Amino acid sequence: MATERTPVAILGAGPAGLLLSHLLHLNGIESILVEARDREYVQARVRAGVVEHGAADILRQAGVGERMDREGLRHGGIELRFDGAGHRIAMSDLTGRHITVYGQQEIVHDLAERRIADGGDVRFACGPAAIHGVDSAEPSVTYAVDGVEHRIVADFVVACDGAHGAGRPAMGESLTTFEKVYPFAWLGILAHAAPRVDELVYANHERGFALYSMRSPSVTRLYLQVPSTDRLEDWSDERIWDELAVRFSLDGEPWEPTRGEIFERSLAPLRSYVGEPMQRGRLFLAGDAAHTVPPTGAKGMNLAIRDVDLLARALTEQIRSGAEEGLRTYTDRALRAVWRAEYFSWWMTTMLHRFDDDSGFDRRVQTAQLRSVVGSEAHATALSENYVG
Ligand code: FAD
Ligand code: DHB
Repeated sequence: MATERTPVAILGAGPAGLLLSHLLHLNGIESILVEARDREYVQARVRAGVVEHGAADILRQAGVGERMDREGLRHGGIELRFDGAGHRIAMSDLTGRHITVYGQQEIVHDLAERRIADGGDVRFACGPAAIHGVDSAEPSVTYAVDGVEHRIVADFVVACDGAHGAGRPAMGESLTTFEKVYPFAWLGILAHAAPRVDELVYANHERGFALYSMRSPSVTRLYLQVPSTDRLEDWSDERIWDELAVRFSLDGEPWEPTRGEIFERSLAPLRSYVGEPMQRGRLFLAGDAAHTVPPTGAKGMNLAIRDVDLLARALTEQIRSGAEEGLRTYTDRALRAVWRAEYFSWWMTTMLHRFDDDSGFDRRVQTAQLRSVVGSEAHATALSENYVG
């Protein structure tokens, strides 16, 4: 078996892993990144779309925000639609900051391109890697390609390998988990259609939640709350468009998004998960490997970016000068932002979705909550501060 050495071995080429490898490189620290899937697959995986203010700044400062600033859509508000009426939350006026609508796969593309241009050691199509010896001074990562085993011995291993990777199980019994599973999923589509709106619309309707988003002036992104038992085959194109029109109703009349060819569709279950701590020995977890938020608050990718920003600094201090404080306090500092995002995502999810066991009382309280958010500057500001980040 070929054995190599590196200061930092990273698992996963999502936003977290690629950005960490890039930030370490900017600080003069080498790493090896191992990704299970091939580059085309990773770059084509459609997921998040909202980059919050702080996360956009991190990307910009790392020199990988140029295309995001050129092609991303700057939004200063969102609409909350309920009871047949739309209400704009003027986020930029309330906070002085804005969000950028820019697909996660574009960020992954920009980061991968930059890593490769900089000669970074990013290895795609390795199959699932395994993590060993995290409590020892010489943790390692192994993977096999074409029957050939590879072993990377590192000073530190960082699992940025998402919710189903090797990072979570490698935490073993040191991990305490906190979880909430919602009884519904989001059916998401991308369509070749000009968005009918300039800003995102979050709709609460008695038939369920719907979200109007976009990727460009000619590509629309739309989501529908569906029962978690539904399959993609249950939803024909016609049924999707008709349901969207009903859930976005205005003044009691169906309100149609501009239709177009649906060229991508997926189902994403909604859940909250936090594993504590985010470190075991020489293993650190970042991004979805450590936590999951339901997508309603648009926080998952942004948290992944914030985690690795903290971790890159802490690893750099430790490797350059032996200063341990940053790594020692990583879990506590990261978890503060994680729980804030868990709270906000739970709050948005419960305010906007339809729950099967909702009583008439629950429905009326939900409407009262929405009215208070759009009717009070203090509430709208609190939402905006959390959303814009
Ligand atoms: P991932 O992107 O999951 O990357 C993990 C990588 O590790 C993958 O490439 C995987 O192939 C690889 N891997 C897995 N196991 C192994 C292994 N054993 N060895 C090597 N590699 C491995 N977030 C937002 O901020 N804003 C939004 O608007 C938003 N909307 C969303 C909408 C939907 C429908 C969904 C599903 C998610 C959304 N999110 C959003 C969440 C966001 O997509 C995730 O939080 C984000 O992908 C986390 O990035 P990551 O790098 O931690 O993990
Ligand atoms: C998008 C995804 C989200 O989860 C969200 O809250 C807003 C927008 C999107 O994919 O555009």
